[in-house]
Amino acid sequence: MLAEGSENCTAISYNLKKAAGVIKAGGLVAFPTETVYGLGADAFNPQAVARIYSAKGRPGDNPLITHIASKEDFFKLADTPYPYTEKLIEVFWPGALTLIVKKKPNLPPWLGGHPNNVAETLGIRMPAHETALALITAAGCPISAPSANKAGKPSPTKAEHVADDYLPGEIDFILQGQASDIGIESTVLDVTGEQPVVLRPGAITVSMIEEVTGIKCNNHNTYSMNAPKAPGMKYRHYAPKAPMAVLDGDIENVTKYIIAECANYKKVGLLTKSIITGLPENVVTLTCGADEKAFAQNLFACLREFDNLGVDKIYAQAISDTELGTAIMDRLSKAAEGNIINV
Ligand code: TXA
Ligand code: MG
Repeated sequence: MLAEGSENCTAISYNLKKAAGVIKAGGLVAFPTETVYGLGADAFNPQAVARIYSAKGRPGDNPLITHIASKEDFFKLADTPYPYTEKLIEVFWPGALTLIVKKKPNLPPWLGGHPNNVAETLGIRMPAHETALALITAAGCPISAPSANKAGKPSPTKAEHVADDYLPGEIDFILQGQASDIGIESTVLDVTGEQPVVLRPGAITVSMIEEVTGIKCNNHNTYSMNAPKAPGMKYRHYAPKAPMAVLDGDIENVTKYIIAECANYKKVGLLTKSIITGLPENVVTLTCGADEKAFAQNLFACLREFDNLGVDKIYAQAISDTELGTAIMDRLSKAAEGNIINV
């Protein structure tokens, strides 16, 4: 199932052709993007799209992002977008920004969601990843794709993560490619109104959006799961096997807290920006990276690694809640099911 990685151009184009053939035939292909791996199907094939939901274990009320390979395709799908939307596309596409738009009336009513439902809006993204763009182009259709993890698990940033999540036959092909550069999913931005609204924070931040549009951008996202506007935000997310808590405080207090608490557990996983010294032996530390960019890149792989290490409790050090840090805190707090402790 897993296509071998190869620097050889012939092998790459062979795998790409094979993957495109699978999509055209109504199959499921996991493919790399600059954010996380997606699990794709022909966006216009209802049986194939329904299979995404069953393979992933995804609730039917959670819509999917439609991935396109050219900016022109956006205007074939979106119904009379606000002019500020065009500015966003010009600056941020291809890239980690999903735009939620009203659909053109001629499109299938279910497009963008589960084929048994009616979707009023459509999430559209043009990924900034050579392999993803080549796949969409070769398949000759927009590709519907959620993140390629099983529902509830951390998003995959490497082909191996996808292979770990599925049994043979659940999906048809895993296309290897350059690992995810950003590491967390795209910013989801509702552009159906006069003011854009962030439904899920990502690497493209509120201030970047405001700078380009010159319009105030609202932020719907909160760490709580109350009244989510992106249907996907209400489900348990990014959850490692062990219960997790985010510790918000300076390094001395975080250290003191862990020393006091770790005796209650067999093996404690600690996720930090940089190494903390003087911790008891049953604490395994994974350092994600000193800056926000590195932290985002490594975050999901670290959460998956804690599962492999068999820890029975996870603590994560809080990140400052600005710019990319806001998106990281969103993922951390969801993985911890809102359990943020001020220390
Ligand atoms: O970076 C990404 O966005 C990755 C890559 C593969 O493109 N995809 C991804 O898809 O993260 P997914 O399905 O895991 O997350 C998409 C989020 C969900 O919270 C979903 O509810 C929301 O976007 N969404 C999709 N279509 C929507 C719509 N029409 N209206 C509101 N929210 C929508
Ligand atoms: Mg997801």
